[in-house]
Amino acid sequence: MAQGYFITGTDTEIGKTHSAVQLIGRWRSEGKRVVAMKPIASGCEVGADGRWINDDVERLVAASGQTDRELMNPYRFLPAVSPHIAAQQAGVVISLDTIKTHYQRLAEQADVVVVEGAGGWFAPLSDTLFMRDLAWALDLPVILVVGMRLGCINHALLTVQAIEAAGLTLAGWVANRVVPDQPAYEDNLATLKAHIHSPLLLEIPYGKEYSYQD
Ligand SMILES: Nc1ncnc2c1ncn2[C@@H]1O[C@H](COP(=O)(O)OP(=O)(O)OP(=O)(O)O)[C@@H](O)[C@H]1O
Ligand SMILES: [Mg+2]
Repeated sequence: MAQGYFITGTDTEIGKTHSAVQLIGRWRSEGKRVVAMKPIASGCEVGADGRWINDDVERLVAASGQTDRELMNPYRFLPAVSPHIAAQQAGVVISLDTIKTHYQRLAEQADVVVVEGAGGWFAPLSDTLFMRDLAWALDLPVILVVGMRLGCINHALLTVQAIEAAGLTLAGWVANRVVPDQPAYEDNLATLKAHIHSPLLLEIPYGKEYSYQD
């Protein structure tokens, strides 16, 4: 059975996909078969053939080499808005069972399945469900991407507490430098290390294409 990971972040646009791509590269370099999943994606461009193209899906596909976009991305919405609003506007009810079925099919093909959430831990999927409920339904260890900038300690520790409150395991975290010169970066990192009792898996510099071989 494949090992799955659920990638969440301290916010939207803080490097979940960027981090997932690095982790996929690392695990592939170790000889593992890795597939990615982006169960819910909002924000698409319309391709020349009318196909809806989502940037995260394309970046994950490029990193993993998988080709079946329908399997890895069962829910795709055109506007770049919260999934619960996008789904409501489209008249779609996001089903955790559907996502689980897709996940299980992916898990049959791989050693590692990297599942990227949308937004942060409490991004809503409907009036009653949050991204947290998807991670819980898939029952996966979580990797938290911390977008390193002012305010990130508060966001990170709140998210860690919420992951633990959901009864899930924090497998590790990523320090992703989303701003060029965060003042006191090393002090912030040390504080996070002191309070997050799971391993720091990756430190990604600002702007530089991170290589897992560095
Ligand atoms: N370390 C970094 N240095 C420079 N730019 C970065 C870094 N990490 C992320 N970015 C940029 O920030 C933006 C958001 O990154 P990314 O798409 O990985 O975030 P995300 O958390 O996956 O967002 P979403 O919530 O939309 O899925 C992208 O344009 C990306 O290139
Ligand atoms: Mg993303």
